[in-house]
Amino acid sequence: MSDRIDIKPGAPEVADAARDLVVSSARHAIATRGVFHWALSGGSTPRAAYARIAELPPGAIDWARVHVWFGDERCVPSDHAESNFRMASEAMLSRVPIPPDNVRRIECERGPVAAANSYDALLAEVFGRDVPSFDLAFLGLGADGHTASLFGDSDFPTDAERLAIGVTAPPAYSVRERVSVTHHVLARARVVAFLVAGAEKRDMLSRVLAPSTDEDRRLPAAMIAASCHSRWIVDRNACAG
Ligand code: 6PG
Repeated sequence: MSDRIDIKPGAPEVADAARDLVVSSARHAIATRGVFHWALSGGSTPRAAYARIAELPPGAIDWARVHVWFGDERCVPSDHAESNFRMASEAMLSRVPIPPDNVRRIECERGPVAAANSYDALLAEVFGRDVPSFDLAFLGLGADGHTASLFGDSDFPTDAERLAIGVTAPPAYSVRERVSVTHHVLARARVVAFLVAGAEKRDMLSRVLAPSTDEDRRLPAAMIAASCHSRWIVDRNACAG
């Protein structure tokens, strides 16, 4: 489906644009529906955006009406260096006035199956199983084409009602047991925003944005992009040419 691509000079400008997107999406969602549901991503590019958001003047976002979710989590304790919850807490959540009950972390310390089942039930309770999900979903792009913790087409359940799954990442990853929200949920977000910076993403970004083979089309980020209108905030280093 059609994608909107914003090319920025470098990673700092990607973070600035991601911050601005959060502010405008939150204001729009709160004005329209009284609440803003935002799914966070792990990774260094989103982390820089969270740090920028934490520096916003008080009142830029009505945090009492913001609900934060996670697109994926690594199965480690929540204070572990590899925890996406810990990263988001340190960069942003502990530095803004969001009510603690509005932060829905994935309880990965319970193990991938139990944590996925409980996040699946929580998502279903709040959003239902077939309606728009988050107002905004942040996603990163791995140099291998993964996004959230979806690493291959086996991580794409055919059951459209499945909202979160346990996943085993490839051997190269230091934390292999993970939980990911499914592509069904991510693609139903009102805004799906990929944040991508760095020359190491260049090859993958061009394959995902213009897939030319079946292998390209099966890349997780390409499969999500094919099923929704996605927005890409990328830096020049990540762009070919
Ligand atoms: C994770 C992510 C993952 C990440 C990409 C890009 O938990 O690891 O959610 O999908 O966003 O790997 O990460 P970088 O921005 O660090 O390259």
